[in-house]
Amino acid sequence: MRKLVRKGVEDLVPYPPGKPIEELERELGISGSIKLASNENPLGPSPLAVQTVINKSSTLNRYPDGSGYYLKSKLSKKFNIPFDQIILGNGSNELIELIIRTFLSPGDHTIQPFPTFLVYEKIVKGAGGNMTSVPLSNLSIDLKGILNAITPKTKVIFICNPNNPTGAAISKDDMLQFLREIPGDIIVVLDEAYIEFTTDEKTANGIDLLDAHSFLLVLRTFSKLYGLAGLRIGYGFAPQMVVDYMNRIRQPFNANTLAQAAATAALDDSSFVHKTLQVVREGLHYLCYNLDEMGLQYVPTQTNFFLIKTPGGGKRIYELMLKQGVIVRSMDSYDLPDYIRISIGLPEENERFIETLKRVL
Ligand SMILES: Cc1ncc(COP(=O)(O)O)c(C=O)c1O
Repeated sequence: MRKLVRKGVEDLVPYPPGKPIEELERELGISGSIKLASNENPLGPSPLAVQTVINKSSTLNRYPDGSGYYLKSKLSKKFNIPFDQIILGNGSNELIELIIRTFLSPGDHTIQPFPTFLVYEKIVKGAGGNMTSVPLSNLSIDLKGILNAITPKTKVIFICNPNNPTGAAISKDDMLQFLREIPGDIIVVLDEAYIEFTTDEKTANGIDLLDAHSFLLVLRTFSKLYGLAGLRIGYGFAPQMVVDYMNRIRQPFNANTLAQAAATAALDDSSFVHKTLQVVREGLHYLCYNLDEMGLQYVPTQTNFFLIKTPGGGKRIYELMLKQGVIVRSMDSYDLPDYIRISIGLPEENERFIETLKRVL
């Protein structure tokens, strides 16, 4: 019989998302759980965005603005990037899919570090492409290893900076040198979902690097810093030609009305941004202090999440904590079985995490 499923799809497993609070509580019959598993904003959504969503909801009988005029204009002004070099997506996830659907033909080759964000490989393989995964070196992205993995068939290279799940960031100097060594006809996808959380001034910033490589796509999101993960809105900066081709494939109304309006408002919510960064930095400090006290190892981070090495394996700790209503992330699917990944929460959530970790250990 004819094989029904597309080549490459059979070997994939569904993306393992952080367990939703409602699902855990339904399964265990408990309440008052906390989730530190999906690198979300613990403060909730930007209040300015919420108010805008309420106001805008009376226009939901109309289709969204397919050109994303207001949001793209605002992004253009904020980052000083021409309007036609900006593309909006239903989350930055959709833009990863769009770049692959636009530029990758079956059999083409791509490269990623590993472990990294699991979605890249899933999308490439689903599109019939091949992926070389270059192992991290000391939990940092091995840029030399990636350069060595380039073949004449390489079409796309993914770099997540700072990297998920390690939280490690590449410096501007290293990134510049890397981009200069990449052949001009390879698309580099630089995923900067967590760039706003970085504190190391040397960290590469894709917006300063757009001229360093002919085909660089910089991806960003409103899901993390602005707390809009549930609305699904991300954006990308790329040469006009890349954006133009992606627009030919893009669904005309991929970025919905509420998401566009909320994101436009959130860009003005500087007090929320400030508060978020403060909560993350203070939370990280508290958590690291307590983990040091407990004698546990963790990986230094430039993001709102980090890896903790847990005796007895990450999966076991994940499962034990789950039963106590604390959702963290097991790192088995990232090939880091000794670790859990946690997102920095509110002060009371961080305290509960530490108390629960002590108990289950
Ligand atoms: C590295 C990375 N890129 C992209 C995303 C997805 O972002 P969005 O919500 O904009 O699709 C995530 C979400 O966890 C992520 O960790």
